[in-house]
Amino acid sequence: MVQTEFKLNTGATIPAVALGSWQSGPGEVAQAVEAAIKCGYRHVDGAFMYKNEEEVGQGIKKSGIDRKELFVTTKLWSTYHRNPEACLDESLKKLGLDYVDLYLMHWPVPLNPKGNDPYLPTRPDGSRDLDTDSWSYIKTWQAMEGLMSTGKVKAIGVSNCSIAYLEEILKIAKVVPACDQMEVHVLNPELKLNDFCKSKGIVLQAYSPLGSTGSPLMKEQIVQDIAKKHDIEAGNVLLSYLNNRGIVVLPKSVTPSRIEKNLKIVDLDKEDIEALNKFAKDSGKLKRFCNPPWGVDFKVSLATLMSTSLKAMCAYDSGQNTMG
Ligand SMILES: NC(=O)c1ccc[n+]([C@@H]2O[C@H](COP(=O)([O-])OP(=O)(O)OC[C@H]3O[C@@H](n4cnc5c(N)ncnc54)[C@H](OP(=O)(O)O)[C@@H]3O)[C@@H](O)[C@H]2O)c1
Repeated sequence: MVQTEFKLNTGATIPAVALGSWQSGPGEVAQAVEAAIKCGYRHVDGAFMYKNEEEVGQGIKKSGIDRKELFVTTKLWSTYHRNPEACLDESLKKLGLDYVDLYLMHWPVPLNPKGNDPYLPTRPDGSRDLDTDSWSYIKTWQAMEGLMSTGKVKAIGVSNCSIAYLEEILKIAKVVPACDQMEVHVLNPELKLNDFCKSKGIVLQAYSPLGSTGSPLMKEQIVQDIAKKHDIEAGNVLLSYLNNRGIVVLPKSVTPSRIEKNLKIVDLDKEDIEALNKFAKDSGKLKRFCNPPWGVDFKVSLATLMSTSLKAMCAYDSGQNTMG
């Protein structure tokens, strides 16, 4: 069923479609945010790491919308895990806002705050300079809980947390994460994670719903076939599939015509959803597009690894350097 918004465990509502802003370049972001709000978006997804929050803020201002009508998300970057409020304050200043509706831990991996780069510090061998000997995302979550009383965040949540990571957080949480933002799409449907999140009152958000840069998932034949059947575009199938499963979608575009199109969510048939749920596994095409080389196994939580001295088992993944 088409859902225009979802209920968070704070009692607030979150609009079901957000404008994504990762890789929206200088000079593109403000006009994209303004265009999105003017055509009906009420939700913008950003991050400190996207290095474009000033423009996101300009777009919000230019749209003329009342702040209270908007849902703005930003994210804590990994070099600030020991001091989430400092990162939040920088984001708020850049956005020109007093508060965000949702503050997410971008990745559950602390990075050395005093390393050789303020965003992505590396070790001499080129691997990421993790700050995990005396800190962990569990401590970060506890520090983020403290933000709830500052009035600067309406809700807090996580991103890139598998079930194993969420379980570790839930063991100590005084505040249950409102959301988990993950890569979710037809080639990575995260069926178990969605069920887990629902059982814990956590709203799942789907990043890279179109397959990220160049929207490659639109070309999948199964998506094209379902689009033809419903007389809609492939992108609308990809977004409706997630929406119908109760997942927030964050399509990114800097192209006004696409921004508008991506708002169109329809009811797919039960058999479409079932076919898309099975597609990645049955076709052997299971795939992630955003897989930065953290050097961490995200299926086994760092807290578990540390407590069982298995940290050495973390294989260094030398994939592409993306950070979403
Ligand atoms: N939490 C995390 O770690 C994380 C990681 C990745 C992403 N995210 C969030 O999720 C958002 C979305 O993910 P994403 O940016 O990776 O990718 P995406 O939204 O799956 O795809 C974006 C790409 O699709 C194109 N596109 C958008 N709408 C289209 C349409 N209707 N027809 C044809 N092409 C279309 C865009 O082109 P144009 O812009 O040129 O129109 C862009 O190349 C991000 O922007 C970010 O806010 C979060």
